[in-house]
Formats: sequence, C-alpha cells, structure tokens
Amino acid sequence: MECTKDHCVRDISLAPSGGKKIDWVSRFMPVLQSIRADFERRKPFKGVKIATTLHLEMKTAFLLLTLKGGGAEVSAAASNPLSTQDDVVAALAKAGVKVYAIRGEDREQYYDFMHRALDIGPNIIIDDGADMVSTVLRERTELIDNLWGASEETTTGVIRLRAMEKDGVLKFPIIAVNDSYTKYLFDNRYGTGQSTWDGIIRTTNLLVAGKNVVVVGYGWCGRGIAMRARGLGATVIVVEVDPIRALEARMDGFLVMDMREAARVGDIFITSTGDINCIRREHFGVMKDGVIMANAGHFDVEISKPDLEAMAIEIKEVRPNITEYKLKDGRKLYLLAEGRLVNLAAADGHPAEIMDMSFALQAKAAQYILENHEKLEPRVYVLPREIDEMVARIKLASMGIKIGELTEEQRHYLESWEHGT
Ligand code: NAI
Repeated sequence: MECTKDHCVRDISLAPSGGKKIDWVSRFMPVLQSIRADFERRKPFKGVKIATTLHLEMKTAFLLLTLKGGGAEVSAAASNPLSTQDDVVAALAKAGVKVYAIRGEDREQYYDFMHRALDIGPNIIIDDGADMVSTVLRERTELIDNLWGASEETTTGVIRLRAMEKDGVLKFPIIAVNDSYTKYLFDNRYGTGQSTWDGIIRTTNLLVAGKNVVVVGYGWCGRGIAMRARGLGATVIVVEVDPIRALEARMDGFLVMDMREAARVGDIFITSTGDINCIRREHFGVMKDGVIMANAGHFDVEISKPDLEAMAIEIKEVRPNITEYKLKDGRKLYLLAEGRLVNLAAADGHPAEIMDMSFALQAKAAQYILENHEKLEPRVYVLPREIDEMVARIKLASMGIKIGELTEEQRHYLESWEHGT
C-alpha cells in the first residue's frame, strides 16, 4: 500500500488500467456527460469541498471527476471494503482526487480512510449507507459548522438518516437521492436485477435454469432479482414479511413461502431486505447440500455469518469469493463474497447506463445543496420532480426516443374537476 497525505492506494502504477475502465463506462453515461460539460464550463463548485463515501469502481470515478471538473476539491473513501477496484482508485489519485481505499481493507482501515477523507473539512458529503454522516455526528462534530448538507445513495442509508431525523440528532440537511424515481425504479430494480446475477454467475459458473431460486425481500431490488431469475429459467420463490408485497409477488407469478419452508427447497438464496439475520441457524439446519447463498442488500448482516461459523466444522475458500461451510452432518453450504453485496464485491456493480442516472442525480444533489443550503433545515429531503424529469428526458433522448406533450386542452382537462359523466 502507498500512503501519502493526499492518497492511500494499493499500487499507483495500476492507474492506466483504471483510466481505461473509466473511459469505457463514461462513453455510456450521456446524462452525466452533459452535466460534466455544464460544470466544466461554469465551475460552480470552485472553492467547494466535497467528501464522498461510495463504492470505488469505474462509474463512481466518473462522478468524482465530474465534480472535480466543476471546480470542487474532492475526497473519497470506500463504502464497502470489498467493492473497491484498486486500479480505479489509482487512476483517481493520479487525477488529483484525494482517495483513500484498498480492496479488502479491514474495519479499522475502513474508518481510518473515512476520517482521512473527512479531513478536507467538507461543505458537502455524498454518502452510501450513511456511515460517513454518522461518523461526523458521532466523532467529527467539529466539521458540522462547515457542512452545508449531504446526499445519500441507498435505501439502507435513507432508513438510517430518517431514524436520525426522528431522534432529532441530524444537524444538517440530507438529500435522499435513493428516493428519486430515476434512482430506485431503475438502479434498485434493473441495476441490482442484472448485476446480482452477473456476480453470481461469474463467481460460480453454474446454471440457473431449472433451479429453485429463493429471493428474500420483494422490494425494488428483490423485484429486479426475481424478474431476471425468471428470465434465466429458474423457479422463483419469494420470501416477504410485508403482506402487500407478498401478494404482489404472487400475482407477478412467483411462489411465495415463509423462510422455513423456502429453506428446504431452495438451490440459490439471495437476500435484499436491508434487514438483519433473514437467513439464520434454523434455516441453515434444513437446507439441501450444496446450496448457494448471496446477498445484494447494503450490509453483510442479512445472512448470519456468526451462525454459519458456529455450525460449521470446517470453513474454507473453495474458489475466489466462495466460502464453503461444512456442517457436522456432511452438508456443505456456500456463501458468496462473504455475504457482502455480491454485485459489487464479485462483479463490477450496476451497468453504466443505470449509474448514469443515479450519479447524474448525485451531481445535481450536490448542486442543489450548494444553491439551497441556506434555506434547508436539518431534515431528509427528496430532489424536486423537475430534476427527475430532466434526467429521464436526457436519458430518453440519448436512446433516440421521442415522447409527446400534453395539448393545452388536455392539460386543462386533467387539472379541472368540472367534467364528469
Ligand atoms: P425496499 O425497502 O424496497 O425492500 C426491502 C423489502 O424487504 C421490503 O419489502 C421488506 O418488507 C422486506 N423485508 C424486510 N425484512 C425482511 C425479512 N426479514 N424477510 C423477508 N423480507 C423482508 O428496499 P430496496 O430498495 O429493495 O433495498 C434493499 C436493500 O438493498 C437495502 O439494503 C439497499 O440499501 C440495498 N441496495 C443494494 C443495491 C446493490 O447494488 N446491491 C442497490 C440498491 C439498494
């Protein structure tokens, strides 16, 4: 590892490989490209400091370079120890981003790097999972005066931030980027749907057709994972605790069971709930020999690793990113990517075209905080609808799709109550 005041990277000589990755994905990110061109022309972030905690892979790199192109001083730490791509981090360091991350960093390094990223004294934070914001509120309170606001990328982070708002501990405004339509409808559903399978298939080299796939959690991510499992030829079983979503899953054509029943029949299990211990001891106890388990939720708590460790008589890595837990009765259960989000830890994360929208929203959220922070309160906000529509319009145009507009007569009709039967 090479550590200076301005970066901690695995190996700075990896920068050319990281640079090629960033060039490749940016080619497919037209919305962020148009924002970048605007930022580079106007330099709205001149003198502004932005600290980020994100998955440090190639699409994220393009966001960070977009902010830097807009004049910001940018620092970055990883939002997950296994999603970092060392070559991308090296390329960012070369490009002048203050970046501190190495793939496989331990918990102590994870927080040490986050503190280093915070040392710039940010005006704006971009967070993924709310670890950076909670670190500021717990340990770096001296930074709060300078901080105008933060934006949050994912469902789990937004849930934590809303809990902070409810408990009255939030000290600056938050933009819940996750809650914009052009984020969760596409990133959580189509992004996680495709990239979770990318991670599982790359890692295992196994067939999906003909298998029983158990999807735990039928939220935005779970819907995408289930949809793609069906496309790959699996029989899909959904496990839910929300009766409305369970009913939706059934009417979408999937089998719905409770976890105990599903544990007996599943071949591949995928969690994406944002919840703890969804698959645990009682379920491992009845699973078939050779099952594959993976998580796509934000933290590595959805499949209980402590229970697996307690039940196993032997634990070994049988292939990169596959841990085998051998139980007393001889059954072997396989956990992918240490139960961390499999699409980022064992693949390259969401497709570029998806992150184009999510990160366009992040760039716009930073601009929104810059322009409005004096009016905002320490609450959790969603970006205005116009920004969502702007992202969707540029995306549609980049796909060569034209849509119509309401006529004056139609607009009036839709806004009035006088017309009846
Ligand atoms: P969501 O809130 O739309 O859905 C979660 C679902 O899980 C809900 O329907 C809930 O009822 C269900 N659930 C909760 N506890 C459960 C349990 N014990 N058993 C069965 N079902 C349970 O959330 P969303 O947007 O689908 O996100 C899920 C997780 O994935 C979050 O941690 C989020 O941060 C993460 N995420 C991961 C991404 C990735 O790249 N892997 C991308 C986007 C989100």
